Amino acid sequence: MIKVAAVQTNPIFGEIENNLEKIKNIFPDSADLVVLPEFCTTGYQFKNLDEVEKYSEDFSDSFSVDFFTSLARENNSVIVAGLSEKSKGKFYNSAVVISPEGLLKTYRKINLFYRENLFFSSGENEPLVVDIVFCKIGVMICFDWIFPNVARSLAIKDADIIAHPANLVLPFCQDAMLTRSIENRVFTVTSNRVGRENRDGIDNLIFTGKSQITSFKGERLISASSKNEEVIFANIEPKEARNKNINEFNKLLK
Ligand code: ACM
Repeated sequence: MIKVAAVQTNPIFGEIENNLEKIKNIFPDSADLVVLPEFCTTGYQFKNLDEVEKYSEDFSDSFSVDFFTSLARENNSVIVAGLSEKSKGKFYNSAVVISPEGLLKTYRKINLFYRENLFFSSGENEPLVVDIVFCKIGVMICFDWIFPNVARSLAIKDADIIAHPANLVLPFCQDAMLTRSIENRVFTVTSNRVGRENRDGIDNLIFTGKSQITSFKGERLISASSKNEEVIFANIEPKEARNKNINEFNKLLK
């Protein structure tokens, strides 16, 4: 059995160091895998390219990656966190997978949502699965949920758990992720943010919270509130996700 956690936060736009400090204050000290929201250090609504340039990080030399590596080391956890990435003149909505040894892999969001399309490039690579010895973690980011082929690709690549950093504004995802679990027999950990982002001149967004962990059978094991910063946990056996047979005749991935 392993212990997985979703950390639900309310980042303040542009306050990277304060947002990281808040994460550190509520970070669980006993979880094997900890998932944080999309854009968890920067906030979500970039107004223009200057802001994207200012707050994005090159992961080869990144304050946030170093910070999460220290947190992973102190708590002996693997962390999946959403960050704004810059690389070779482009910007990506990315999720990093960080172990106590440092950055393992990066997933760049494929299906960009709404105004993200103004500033960010879509990830060019396939959905990412990382083998962290005690399980295989598939990574997708927020709006990827609406495309069943993303979760399916992760299941085909043997993901046991889908780590899903999110900044959800539509109300459907938490229920849809139950279906993603059922149709792929995978565990899912959706870490969503809460709060409202009120940035001059652009839409005022309210994020839906209700971070959740589902079982490989599509059960909602635990769910967070819609408004509070909090941490939720579940103890799971990742290997249970490896049996893709509903019975001897019905094999999900055949
Ligand atoms: C989203 O993809 N942030 C809704």
